[in-house]
Amino acid sequence: MDVHGNPYRSIRLSQDDRQVEIIDQTRLPHEFVVVRLSTLDQAVEAICDMQVRGAPLIGATAAYGFCLGLLENAEDKSLRVIADTLIRCRPTAVNLRWAVQRMLTVLLPLSPSERVAAAYEEAAAICEEDVAANKDIGKHGGGLLREIWEKKGKSAPVNILTHCNAGWLATVDWGTALAPVFRAHMDSIPVHVWVDETRPRNQGAHLTAWELVSAGIDHHLIVDNAGGHLMQHGQVDICIVGTDRTAASGDVCNKIGTYLKALAAFDNQVPFYVALPGSTIDWQVSDGVGEIPIEERAPDEVLQVQGLHERQLVQVGIAPANTPAANPAFDVTPARLVTGLITERGICSASRAGLLSLYPEKG
Ligand code: MRU
Repeated sequence: MDVHGNPYRSIRLSQDDRQVEIIDQTRLPHEFVVVRLSTLDQAVEAICDMQVRGAPLIGATAAYGFCLGLLENAEDKSLRVIADTLIRCRPTAVNLRWAVQRMLTVLLPLSPSERVAAAYEEAAAICEEDVAANKDIGKHGGGLLREIWEKKGKSAPVNILTHCNAGWLATVDWGTALAPVFRAHMDSIPVHVWVDETRPRNQGAHLTAWELVSAGIDHHLIVDNAGGHLMQHGQVDICIVGTDRTAASGDVCNKIGTYLKALAAFDNQVPFYVALPGSTIDWQVSDGVGEIPIEERAPDEVLQVQGLHERQLVQVGIAPANTPAANPAFDVTPARLVTGLITERGICSASRAGLLSLYPEKG
Protein backbone atom coordinates (compact mmCIF):
# COMPACT_ATOMS: atom_id res chain seq x y z
CA MET A 1 0.00 0.00 0.00
CA ASP A 2 1.04 3.61 -0.43
CA VAL A 3 2.89 5.66 2.17
CA HIS A 4 3.12 9.34 1.16
CA GLY A 5 2.46 8.30 -2.43
CA ASN A 6 5.12 5.56 -2.53
CA PRO A 7 4.19 1.86 -2.70
CA TYR A 8 5.36 0.03 0.43
CA ARG A 9 5.36 -3.43 1.93
CA SER A 10 5.67 -4.15 5.63
CA ILE A 11 8.78 -6.29 4.98
CA ARG A 12 11.26 -6.44 2.12
CA LEU A 13 14.87 -7.21 1.33
CA SER A 14 17.41 -4.38 1.35
CA GLN A 15 19.36 -3.57 -1.81
CA ASP A 16 22.03 -6.20 -1.08
CA ASP A 17 19.28 -8.88 -1.20
CA ARG A 18 20.51 -10.22 2.16
CA GLN A 19 19.41 -7.90 4.96
CA VAL A 20 15.76 -7.41 5.76
CA GLU A 21 13.91 -4.11 6.10
CA ILE A 22 10.85 -3.71 8.30
CA ILE A 23 8.75 -0.76 9.41
CA ASP A 24 9.13 -0.28 13.18
CA GLN A 25 5.46 -0.51 14.17
CA THR A 26 6.12 0.46 17.78
CA ARG A 27 6.78 4.01 16.57
CA LEU A 28 3.74 4.51 14.35
CA PRO A 29 1.73 6.66 13.88
CA HIS A 30 4.11 9.32 15.14
CA GLU A 31 7.31 8.23 13.38
CA PHE A 32 7.76 6.24 10.18
CA VAL A 33 11.06 4.43 10.69
CA VAL A 34 12.49 1.63 8.57
CA VAL A 35 14.75 -0.74 10.52
CA ARG A 36 17.30 -3.11 9.01
CA LEU A 37 17.65 -6.65 10.38
CA SER A 38 21.00 -8.39 9.78
CA THR A 39 21.01 -11.26 12.30
CA LEU A 40 18.70 -13.94 13.64
CA ASP A 41 18.77 -12.23 17.05
CA GLN A 42 17.55 -8.99 15.54
CA ALA A 43 14.68 -10.79 13.80
CA VAL A 44 13.74 -12.51 17.07
CA GLU A 45 13.82 -9.19 18.90
CA ALA A 46 11.67 -7.52 16.22
CA ILE A 47 8.99 -10.20 16.67
CA CYS A 48 9.16 -10.32 20.51
CA ASP A 49 9.12 -6.52 20.90
CA MET A 50 6.35 -6.21 18.30
CA GLN A 51 8.25 -4.00 15.88
CA VAL A 52 6.54 -6.42 13.53
CA ARG A 53 3.26 -8.02 14.55
CA GLY A 54 0.11 -9.49 13.01
CA ALA A 55 0.01 -13.21 12.31
CA PRO A 56 1.02 -13.24 8.60
CA LEU A 57 3.81 -10.69 9.07
CA ILE A 58 5.17 -12.62 12.06
CA GLY A 59 5.36 -15.67 9.77
CA ALA A 60 7.09 -13.73 6.99
CA THR A 61 9.60 -12.20 9.41
CA ALA A 62 10.34 -15.63 10.88
CA ALA A 63 11.03 -16.94 7.37
CA TYR A 64 13.53 -14.16 6.71
CA GLY A 65 14.91 -14.55 10.25
CA PHE A 66 15.65 -18.14 9.25
CA CYS A 67 17.66 -16.85 6.27
CA LEU A 68 19.65 -14.50 8.51
CA GLY A 69 20.37 -17.36 10.92
CA LEU A 70 21.65 -19.50 8.06
CA LEU A 71 24.04 -16.76 6.97
CA GLU A 72 25.66 -17.23 10.38
CA ASN A 73 25.65 -21.04 10.26
CA ALA A 74 23.98 -23.40 7.76
CA GLU A 75 24.92 -26.74 9.40
CA ASP A 76 22.25 -29.34 10.27
CA LYS A 77 22.42 -28.68 14.02
CA SER A 78 21.92 -25.00 13.48
CA LEU A 79 18.65 -25.50 11.54
CA ARG A 80 16.94 -26.91 14.65
CA VAL A 81 18.38 -24.20 16.87
CA ILE A 82 17.14 -21.47 14.51
CA ALA A 83 13.70 -23.07 14.30
CA ASP A 84 13.37 -23.42 18.10
CA THR A 85 14.58 -19.88 18.72
CA LEU A 86 12.02 -18.43 16.33
CA ILE A 87 9.09 -20.57 17.46
CA ARG A 88 9.59 -19.41 21.08
CA CYS A 89 9.02 -15.73 20.14
CA ARG A 90 5.22 -15.58 20.36
CA PRO A 91 2.93 -18.52 21.10
CA THR A 92 -0.49 -17.68 19.67
CA ALA A 93 -0.15 -16.78 15.97
CA VAL A 94 0.13 -20.11 14.19
CA ASN A 95 1.78 -18.53 11.14
CA LEU A 96 5.03 -18.47 13.08
CA ARG A 97 5.12 -22.26 13.47
CA TRP A 98 3.72 -22.70 9.95
CA ALA A 99 6.47 -20.58 8.34
CA VAL A 100 9.27 -22.18 10.37
CA GLN A 101 7.99 -25.66 9.54
CA ARG A 102 7.82 -24.76 5.88
CA MET A 103 11.42 -23.52 5.92
CA LEU A 104 12.59 -26.71 7.67
CA THR A 105 10.80 -28.92 5.13
CA VAL A 106 12.59 -27.21 2.25
CA LEU A 107 16.01 -26.87 3.89
CA LEU A 108 16.57 -30.12 5.77
CA PRO A 109 17.07 -32.30 2.65
CA LEU A 110 19.62 -29.84 1.19
CA SER A 111 23.36 -29.70 1.78
CA PRO A 112 24.62 -26.74 3.87
CA SER A 113 26.05 -25.03 0.77
CA GLU A 114 22.65 -25.04 -0.97
CA ARG A 115 20.65 -23.77 1.99
CA VAL A 116 21.11 -20.01 2.00
CA ALA A 117 19.88 -19.48 -1.57
CA ALA A 118 16.98 -21.90 -1.08
CA ALA A 119 15.98 -20.19 2.17
CA TYR A 120 15.77 -16.73 0.58
CA GLU A 121 13.74 -18.22 -2.27
CA GLU A 122 11.29 -19.85 0.13
CA ALA A 123 10.94 -16.73 2.30
CA ALA A 124 10.21 -14.68 -0.81
CA ALA A 125 7.59 -17.25 -1.88
CA ILE A 126 5.92 -17.04 1.55
CA CYS A 127 5.72 -13.25 1.16
CA GLU A 128 4.38 -13.34 -2.40
CA GLU A 129 1.77 -15.97 -1.52
CA ASP A 130 0.64 -13.84 1.41
CA VAL A 131 0.16 -10.80 -0.81
CA ALA A 132 -1.80 -12.82 -3.40
CA ALA A 133 -3.99 -14.45 -0.71
CA ASN A 134 -4.81 -11.13 0.92
CA LYS A 135 -5.64 -9.54 -2.41
CA ASP A 136 -8.13 -12.36 -3.03
CA ILE A 137 -9.57 -11.96 0.47
CA GLY A 138 -10.14 -8.34 -0.56
CA LYS A 139 -11.98 -9.45 -3.67
CA HIS A 140 -14.30 -11.87 -1.82
CA GLY A 141 -14.88 -9.59 1.18
CA GLY A 142 -15.26 -6.58 -1.10
CA GLY A 143 -18.17 -8.44 -2.73
CA LEU A 144 -19.88 -8.66 0.67
CA LEU A 145 -19.48 -4.92 1.20
CA ARG A 146 -20.90 -4.26 -2.27
CA GLU A 147 -23.97 -6.43 -1.44
CA ILE A 148 -24.58 -4.47 1.78
CA TRP A 149 -24.24 -1.19 -0.09
CA GLU A 150 -26.74 -2.33 -2.72
CA LYS A 151 -29.15 -3.51 0.00
CA LYS A 152 -28.95 -0.03 1.51
CA GLY A 153 -30.08 1.33 -1.86
CA LYS A 154 -26.60 2.77 -2.45
CA SER A 155 -27.82 5.64 -0.30
CA ALA A 156 -25.28 5.57 2.53
CA PRO A 157 -21.77 4.28 3.21
CA VAL A 158 -21.25 0.76 4.53
CA ASN A 159 -20.27 0.93 8.22
CA ILE A 160 -17.64 -1.62 9.16
CA LEU A 161 -16.37 -2.22 12.69
CA THR A 162 -12.91 -3.72 13.12
CA HIS A 163 -10.76 -4.63 16.10
CA CYS A 164 -6.97 -4.42 16.42
CA ASN A 165 -4.97 -4.05 13.21
CA ALA A 166 -5.50 -6.59 10.48
CA GLY A 167 -4.49 -4.18 7.74
CA TRP A 168 -1.48 -4.27 5.46
CA LEU A 169 0.90 -3.66 8.37
CA ALA A 170 -0.20 -6.98 9.90
CA THR A 171 0.58 -8.86 6.68
CA VAL A 172 3.07 -8.37 3.86
CA ASP A 173 0.54 -6.25 1.97
CA TRP A 174 -3.23 -5.60 1.69
CA GLY A 175 -4.13 -7.01 5.13
CA THR A 176 -6.89 -9.47 5.93
CA ALA A 177 -9.82 -7.71 7.62
CA LEU A 178 -8.97 -4.42 5.91
CA ALA A 179 -8.40 -5.92 2.45
CA PRO A 180 -12.16 -5.86 1.67
CA VAL A 181 -12.27 -2.25 2.85
CA PHE A 182 -9.35 -1.26 0.59
CA ARG A 183 -10.94 -3.17 -2.32
CA ALA A 184 -14.34 -1.53 -1.82
CA HIS A 185 -12.75 1.92 -1.57
CA MET A 186 -10.82 1.30 -4.81
CA ASP A 187 -14.10 0.20 -6.44
CA SER A 188 -15.75 3.47 -5.35
CA ILE A 189 -18.08 1.80 -2.82
CA PRO A 190 -18.47 4.28 0.04
CA VAL A 191 -17.19 2.81 3.29
CA HIS A 192 -16.80 4.10 6.83
CA VAL A 193 -14.79 2.22 9.46
CA TRP A 194 -15.31 2.18 13.23
CA VAL A 195 -11.80 1.58 14.58
CA ASP A 196 -11.57 0.01 18.06
CA GLU A 197 -8.57 1.58 19.80
CA THR A 198 -7.59 -1.93 21.05
CA ARG A 199 -6.09 -1.56 24.49
CA PRO A 200 -3.57 -2.25 25.82
CA ARG A 201 -1.23 -1.70 22.85
CA ASN A 202 -3.68 0.39 20.84
CA GLN A 203 -3.05 -1.24 17.47
CA GLY A 204 -6.35 0.27 16.29
CA ALA A 205 -5.45 3.82 17.29
CA HIS A 206 -1.82 3.56 16.24
CA LEU A 207 -1.92 1.39 13.13
CA THR A 208 -5.41 0.89 11.69
CA ALA A 209 -6.23 4.59 11.94
CA TRP A 210 -2.85 5.42 10.35
CA GLU A 211 -3.51 3.04 7.44
CA LEU A 212 -6.96 4.53 6.87
CA VAL A 213 -5.70 8.11 7.01
CA SER A 214 -2.96 7.20 4.50
CA ALA A 215 -5.53 5.60 2.17
CA GLY A 216 -8.03 8.45 2.53
CA ILE A 217 -10.75 6.17 3.91
CA ASP A 218 -13.48 7.62 6.11
CA HIS A 219 -13.27 6.35 9.72
CA HIS A 220 -13.71 7.16 13.40
CA LEU A 221 -11.59 5.92 16.27
CA ILE A 222 -13.72 4.60 19.14
CA VAL A 223 -12.96 3.29 22.62
CA ASP A 224 -13.07 -0.47 22.90
CA ASN A 225 -16.35 -0.42 24.80
CA ALA A 226 -18.31 1.65 22.26
CA GLY A 227 -19.02 -1.13 19.74
CA GLY A 228 -22.05 -2.64 21.53
CA HIS A 229 -23.72 0.76 21.81
CA LEU A 230 -23.15 1.52 18.11
CA MET A 231 -24.56 -1.87 17.12
CA GLN A 232 -27.69 -1.33 19.24
CA HIS A 233 -28.30 1.90 17.35
CA GLY A 234 -27.94 0.44 13.85
CA GLN A 235 -24.63 2.14 13.20
CA VAL A 236 -22.67 -0.99 12.29
CA ASP A 237 -23.54 -2.93 9.13
CA ILE A 238 -20.84 -5.56 9.48
CA CYS A 239 -17.89 -6.48 11.73
CA ILE A 240 -14.75 -7.81 10.08
CA VAL A 241 -11.73 -8.88 12.12
CA GLY A 242 -8.56 -10.90 11.54
CA THR A 243 -7.37 -14.01 13.33
CA ASP A 244 -4.09 -15.31 14.71
CA ARG A 245 -5.17 -18.92 14.68
CA THR A 246 -8.31 -20.49 13.28
CA ALA A 247 -9.26 -23.90 14.64
CA ALA A 248 -10.40 -26.57 12.19
CA SER A 249 -13.82 -26.24 13.87
CA GLY A 250 -14.06 -22.57 12.85
CA ASP A 251 -13.30 -21.12 16.31
CA VAL A 252 -11.12 -18.03 15.86
CA CYS A 253 -8.45 -16.66 18.13
CA ASN A 254 -7.80 -12.94 17.75
CA LYS A 255 -6.79 -9.88 19.75
CA ILE A 256 -8.23 -9.66 23.25
CA GLY A 257 -11.71 -8.13 23.11
CA THR A 258 -12.75 -9.73 19.83
CA TYR A 259 -15.00 -12.20 21.65
CA LEU A 260 -16.97 -9.39 23.31
CA LYS A 261 -17.51 -7.74 19.92
CA ALA A 262 -18.79 -11.03 18.52
CA LEU A 263 -21.24 -11.39 21.44
CA ALA A 264 -22.55 -7.87 20.89
CA ALA A 265 -22.84 -8.50 17.15
CA PHE A 266 -24.77 -11.73 17.78
CA ASP A 267 -27.17 -9.99 20.15
CA ASN A 268 -27.82 -7.26 17.59
CA GLN A 269 -27.96 -9.45 14.44
CA VAL A 270 -24.92 -7.70 12.99
CA PRO A 271 -22.99 -10.04 10.66
CA PHE A 272 -19.61 -10.94 12.17
CA TYR A 273 -16.98 -12.04 9.63
CA VAL A 274 -13.39 -13.16 10.13
CA ALA A 275 -10.84 -12.74 7.32
CA LEU A 276 -7.88 -15.10 7.04
CA PRO A 277 -5.41 -16.67 4.67
CA GLY A 278 -5.11 -20.48 4.76
CA SER A 279 -1.79 -20.14 6.60
CA THR A 280 -3.72 -19.11 9.71
CA ILE A 281 -5.70 -22.34 10.00
CA ASP A 282 -4.46 -24.82 12.57
CA TRP A 283 -5.87 -28.12 11.34
CA GLN A 284 -4.64 -29.88 14.50
CA VAL A 285 -6.88 -27.84 16.80
CA SER A 286 -10.59 -28.52 17.04
CA ASP A 287 -11.47 -26.80 20.34
CA GLY A 288 -10.19 -23.23 20.09
CA VAL A 289 -11.03 -22.25 23.68
CA GLY A 290 -9.41 -25.31 25.21
CA GLU A 291 -6.42 -25.80 22.96
CA ILE A 292 -5.05 -22.50 21.61
CA PRO A 293 -2.21 -21.10 23.77
CA ILE A 294 -2.95 -17.52 24.79
CA GLU A 295 0.04 -15.21 25.07
CA GLU A 296 0.32 -13.43 28.43
CA ARG A 297 2.23 -10.20 27.96
CA ALA A 298 3.95 -7.82 30.37
CA PRO A 299 1.74 -6.07 32.97
CA ASP A 300 3.37 -2.74 32.05
CA GLU A 301 1.40 -2.73 28.78
CA VAL A 302 -1.78 -2.40 30.88
CA LEU A 303 -0.37 -0.10 33.53
CA GLN A 304 1.02 2.41 31.04
CA VAL A 305 0.09 4.01 27.74
CA GLN A 306 2.40 5.31 25.05
CA GLY A 307 1.90 8.63 23.32
CA LEU A 308 3.57 11.72 21.94
CA HIS A 309 4.64 14.43 24.38
CA GLU A 310 6.59 17.44 23.15
CA ARG A 311 7.58 15.48 20.03
CA GLN A 312 8.94 12.56 22.08
CA LEU A 313 7.37 9.11 22.36
CA VAL A 314 6.75 8.60 26.08
CA GLN A 315 5.10 6.05 28.36
CA VAL A 316 2.84 7.37 31.12
CA GLY A 317 1.42 5.45 34.07
CA ILE A 318 -2.38 5.21 34.42
CA ALA A 319 -2.82 3.14 37.62
CA PRO A 320 -1.74 3.27 41.26
CA ALA A 321 1.90 2.27 41.72
CA ASN A 322 1.18 -1.04 43.43
CA THR A 323 -1.71 -2.27 41.28
CA PRO A 324 -0.94 -5.63 39.69
CA ALA A 325 -2.18 -6.18 36.13
CA ALA A 326 -3.01 -9.24 34.04
CA ASN A 327 -2.52 -9.04 30.29
CA PRO A 328 -3.90 -11.90 28.19
CA ALA A 329 -3.25 -10.76 24.62
CA PHE A 330 -5.83 -12.84 22.72
CA ASP A 331 -9.21 -14.49 23.16
CA VAL A 332 -11.19 -17.11 21.29
CA THR A 333 -14.51 -16.47 19.59
CA PRO A 334 -16.49 -19.70 19.25
CA ALA A 335 -17.55 -20.61 15.72
CA ARG A 336 -21.26 -20.29 16.62
CA LEU A 337 -20.79 -16.48 16.87
CA VAL A 338 -19.06 -16.17 13.49
CA THR A 339 -21.25 -15.50 10.43
CA GLY A 340 -18.57 -16.55 7.97
CA LEU A 341 -14.88 -16.88 7.19
CA ILE A 342 -13.48 -14.81 4.31
CA THR A 343 -10.51 -16.66 2.83
CA GLU A 344 -8.44 -16.37 -0.33
CA ARG A 345 -10.50 -19.23 -1.78
CA GLY A 346 -13.92 -17.74 -1.03
CA ILE A 347 -16.30 -17.36 1.89
CA CYS A 348 -17.42 -20.32 4.00
CA SER A 349 -19.25 -21.08 7.22
CA ALA A 350 -17.17 -21.17 10.39
CA SER A 351 -17.16 -24.94 10.67
CA ARG A 352 -15.03 -27.94 9.77
CA ALA A 353 -17.36 -28.68 6.84
CA GLY A 354 -17.14 -25.08 5.66
CA LEU A 355 -13.35 -25.00 5.81
CA LEU A 356 -13.05 -28.40 4.13
CA SER A 357 -15.28 -27.22 1.28
CA LEU A 358 -12.57 -24.65 0.48
CA TYR A 359 -9.51 -26.72 1.51
CA PRO A 360 -10.52 -30.28 0.51
CA GLU A 361 -6.88 -31.40 0.49
CA LYS A 362 -6.89 -31.12 4.32
CA GLY A 363 -9.65 -33.72 4.70
O1 MRU B 1 -0.59 -8.76 19.02
P1 MRU B 1 -0.71 -8.48 17.55
O2 MRU B 1 -0.70 -7.04 17.21
O3 MRU B 1 0.29 -9.28 16.76
O4 MRU B 1 -2.15 -9.05 17.19
C1 MRU B 1 -2.61 -8.94 15.87
C2 MRU B 1 -3.99 -9.40 15.70
O5 MRU B 1 -4.65 -9.78 16.63
C3 MRU B 1 -4.54 -9.43 14.30
O6 MRU B 1 -5.92 -9.21 14.31
C4 MRU B 1 -4.26 -10.81 13.69
O7 MRU B 1 -2.89 -11.10 13.75
C5 MRU B 1 -4.71 -10.91 12.30
S1 MRU B 1 -3.64 -9.97 11.27
C6 MRU B 1 -3.98 -10.13 9.66
